[in-house]
Amino acid sequence: MPSESSQYLINNPSGLYVDCTFGGGGHTYYLLEKYKDIKMIAFDWDGAAFERFENRPSGFKSRVTFVRENFKNIKSVLENAGIGKVDGILADIGVSSKQFDDLGRGFSFNSKNLDMRMDLRNTLTAKEVINGCGEEELAGIFYKYGEERMSRQIAKAIALRRKRGVINTSLELQDIICSVKRPEGKINPATKVFQALRIFVNKELENLEALLCASPELLNAGGRIVVISFHSLEDRIIKQNFKRNAWENIYKILTKKVITASQEEMKNNPRSRSAKIRAAERTNV
Ligand SMILES: C[S@@+](CC[C@H](N)C(=O)[O-])C[C@H]1O[C@@H](n2cnc3c(N)ncnc32)[C@H](O)[C@@H]1O
Repeated sequence: MPSESSQYLINNPSGLYVDCTFGGGGHTYYLLEKYKDIKMIAFDWDGAAFERFENRPSGFKSRVTFVRENFKNIKSVLENAGIGKVDGILADIGVSSKQFDDLGRGFSFNSKNLDMRMDLRNTLTAKEVINGCGEEELAGIFYKYGEERMSRQIAKAIALRRKRGVINTSLELQDIICSVKRPEGKINPATKVFQALRIFVNKELENLEALLCASPELLNAGGRIVVISFHSLEDRIIKQNFKRNAWENIYKILTKKVITASQEEMKNNPRSRSAKIRAAERTNV
């Protein structure tokens, strides 16, 4: 995805850009390598991403500043750093493959844990939600954030299982879901519930909304915003925000139709199969 997204992001070859989601640094380092005169501010709220940044021997350190913060606070972070406006904002939202693959974090179906926090400084965990929320509330979370059609049956099964003791691992949760929901093709029956929990625990949609809302006033005229998302709930929010801003003449939409990964990218990076890129340019209004 870095090549697809950078093609939309860069409009000023010596500008200042924000990567809201550093992760493994794939996009940040690609951009710094390709555009020798740009500078970047990289956000990630995950301490592990910061460690990766710190430990990587890189000749780019003088051109990139790392901020361990929620990107919803982009406006105040830039203000505090004395930065008025930037030339581009990139966000590749969701969990990173590194977070997903770390079994201790509890994002994958076979984890020994049930945590799902991307930022371990936050307090709410998936374990607290699964063991602490009422049956109705759980069903609401699964339906709203996972579009899970069997939300009620799954919530009921969880409530029943809780009578025998605390649900401690994502493996246990997966088994409960599989006891009431059959697999559809190759997709794990627990996929939608896991998505819903992750979004709820990390307040992902609220953070995205706040970022999109702050962005117009942070972009120079001609500056670009590029957002990569992975499911329809996020894509809908991005599409509607861009449309609203285009209607008010604040943005010009650069991706009339949503952009997906190239065949080659999909081959090398299976996660990119469901990725959608949308981009817009700040007008001079
Ligand atoms: C999909 S990964 C980004 C991968 C990255 N583009 C790369 O090339 O390696 C998303 C990253 O964004 C971070 N993230 C998600 N939501 C965030 C938020 N609200 N504030 C800051 N970082 C966030 C996650 O911790 C994760 O590391």
